[in-house]
Amino acid sequence: MARTRLADRIAAARAERVAANAVRTRREIQAREGAQVLVDGRTLTSFCGNDYLGLSQHLDVVAALQEAAAWHGVGSTGSALVSGHHGEHAAFEREMAQWLGYERALLFGSGYLANLAVMQSLLGEGDSCVQDKLNHACLIDGARLAGCELKRYPHADVEAAMRQLMSRREGAALLATDGVFSMDGDQAPLADLALVARTQDAMLYVDDAHGIGVLGPEGRGSLAVASLGAREVPLLLVPLGKAFGGQGAVLLGSDDVVGHVAETARPYLFSTAPAPAMASAMRASLQLIRTQPWRRAKLASLVARFRRGASALGLPLQESFTPIQPIVLGDNARALAVSRALEAQGYLVTAIRPPTVPENQARLRITFSVEHREQDVDGLLQALAEAVKARPDPIPA
Ligand SMILES: Cc1ncc(COP(=O)(O)O)c(C=O)c1O
Repeated sequence: MARTRLADRIAAARAERVAANAVRTRREIQAREGAQVLVDGRTLTSFCGNDYLGLSQHLDVVAALQEAAAWHGVGSTGSALVSGHHGEHAAFEREMAQWLGYERALLFGSGYLANLAVMQSLLGEGDSCVQDKLNHACLIDGARLAGCELKRYPHADVEAAMRQLMSRREGAALLATDGVFSMDGDQAPLADLALVARTQDAMLYVDDAHGIGVLGPEGRGSLAVASLGAREVPLLLVPLGKAFGGQGAVLLGSDDVVGHVAETARPYLFSTAPAPAMASAMRASLQLIRTQPWRRAKLASLVARFRRGASALGLPLQESFTPIQPIVLGDNARALAVSRALEAQGYLVTAIRPPTVPENQARLRITFSVEHREQDVDGLLQALAEAVKARPDPIPA
């Protein structure tokens, strides 16, 4: 490879992204109340957050965070194994383990970090990590960094997963899947994957970022829906930035496996533990998730209303019955144009483009929250129908 100046390469890459409508910018949220956000001085109704149950601004959750910060301060002061593991972390881990029926829980600062940690501490050279092609980027990145062999099966194709596991000649295997797919909203075939994992001596690992809190009795997520527990799914990840309305992630498993991750995972050992106040806030969220089933019922009814309306308007719905309802539009320019048209009508729905989704599958990832009202859903549907109709799918050359 010829010598190159790094600055020149970066400038060329940025120019390429401009030409491909692939530039990503951040929108500054100046204020927020529920699904209403103030952006560039305008109030918009957001349909692209992950605060499914509306807990991120719940008074109990905010009060728990404030009180704990007053008692414990803001920072945890160190890595969990040095000085950063506090009483609030320990209490939250115990409550999570008990709620979901696992021996042990371990709190991380983010879901991304947790997935790097799990893969890096459990897998290495000679091992296999078999994953759904549409798994979240951090599962894929984790396996890449772990140095194991990464095999990705076509989306939800259980037989392909089986073949990939059967083809391994040596080493241990982890079968990893999202519980609910983050950009598509559909649910993984967990019962079948559990069977495959058992017959192939693989450990099944489910990242339930978008199922926990939203699905199943008490919001116990994708596993509860599939009648699975710690025996069939020995390792479970519960990211806290979605239905829990906070930040961080909890890994659940046996004493042995979770203990091994805590003792050996570099992303755990060498990172400051999350704020004790966040653990306290998440304990309050857990209480609300368990005891307020009306939140799940309202969310389900908003999703059903959207699907009925979208189908009557001829909008291209996907096979999703969760609060993630993507409208796949194809090329980047079309997704951006529809997103801008919605914004002009008062709705914030960011266009999701590659590499977050596969090439030519740019989309609007519409998400619902209990903070939405029925009239918000109806208004979005009208605006969406007009915006999509005004920008028909280009006829392929
Ligand atoms: C399935 C899945 N896992 C993990 C993550 C990352 O979690 P975090 O945002 O806490 O890093 C996300 C979301 O962003 C996700 O959708």
